[in-house]
Amino acid sequence: MKNLFDETQIGEIVLKNRFVRSATWERLANEKGEPKGDLFRVYEDLAIGDIGLIITGLSSIIEGEQPHPGMMGIYNDRFHGTYKRLTERVHELGGQIAMQIGYGGTRTHFQTEKRIIWGPSEIPELNTGVVAKEMSLEDITTLIQAFGDAAGRVKKAGFDGVQVHGAHGYLLGQFLSPYHNRRLDQYGGTISNRARLILDVYSEIRSRVGFSFPVLIKINSSDCISEGSTLQDCLYTCRELVKMGIDAIELSGGVKLAGNPYSPVRFVASEAEEAYFAKEATAIAEELDIPVILVGGLRSLNVMQRLLNDTKIDCFAMSRPFLAEPKLIARWRSGDYSKSKCLSCNQCKTDSGNYCKVFKNKKI
Ligand SMILES: Cc1cc2nc3c(=O)[nH]c(=O)nc-3n(C[C@H](O)[C@H](O)[C@H](O)COP(=O)(O)O)c2cc1C
Ligand code: SF4
Repeated sequence: MKNLFDETQIGEIVLKNRFVRSATWERLANEKGEPKGDLFRVYEDLAIGDIGLIITGLSSIIEGEQPHPGMMGIYNDRFHGTYKRLTERVHELGGQIAMQIGYGGTRTHFQTEKRIIWGPSEIPELNTGVVAKEMSLEDITTLIQAFGDAAGRVKKAGFDGVQVHGAHGYLLGQFLSPYHNRRLDQYGGTISNRARLILDVYSEIRSRVGFSFPVLIKINSSDCISEGSTLQDCLYTCRELVKMGIDAIELSGGVKLAGNPYSPVRFVASEAEEAYFAKEATAIAEELDIPVILVGGLRSLNVMQRLLNDTKIDCFAMSRPFLAEPKLIARWRSGDYSKSKCLSCNQCKTDSGNYCKVFKNKKI
């Protein structure tokens, strides 16, 4: 029988267990996306905490494109030294770390008047109302190149893998969504057209990092709204990515933070409400022959162990539980199996960094 603490593999990397830290923006970089010293402490704690794979917060691939303040950047070679130090430190402490890269787009309230924000079509974002500049084919080429350049930097800086953010209503997810994507060219319309940008981005990244470097994607199993992307859209995109050699898929869902039933970040009041994308992820994992990672409301070991036994889901990712307890996995490994202390109260976003206000894990 499979066990959560088994070693497992994503592409060429061996993880010491099946737990993943899902990407979590820490709000600890400056306005240029340069990490502050405190960010290192966050990753040191996670590395000591025995997590199989740590995924960084979303890092910008284009200068000035910060969907939220304090996000990291990877849009320029000058970040090399800082990230090299970060990966070396995480490795010294026994951790493995992948960087999440992406383009946010109109799902933002941050400095929207100061910048041109790309989107598939000139449509107001559902939650923020921000209207995108419809991307030209030239913009699309620039974006694809920027993903490739960023992934090359990620590899060079010593990360163990790169994850593309294709979920939660950010730009790549918007291309999949019939609500946001009204294009009439080869990037809009049928699902093979709406998925084309993600596949082009993946191809470009692969051509830069080679086949031995793990490439992952985080994608919505469904946008959870009637106008958004569906389970079938996700399945199509994942199948194509698998054919092209992607190493693992992290399944999330939802498009906005407000409104619990639609959000990727929900309240979890009981064990029955945990793993809120499990049904969709179970169906998708059944169809794919690569590691599938589930995220969203995972709190109890027995819930995850049951999913591991009964489905083809391989790994389990958490975000807020590691804000509440960076050393959660080490605690579980030591034999204290009580569930994560996180109350899902969503008080972890503050102006001075995203940390757990309830359990005061503020080291900044
Ligand atoms: C403070 C905070 C920051 C987040 N930042 C990111 C991010 O940078 N990239 C991402 O894909 N998801 C991000 N998320 C979403 C989480 O990765 C995760 O999908 C979601 O919180 C559900 O998992 P959980 O119930 O374990 O928290 C963030 C969530 C929180 C609470
Ligand atoms: S503030 Fe609330 S939701 Fe955030 S980590 Fe702490 S307990 Fe969990």
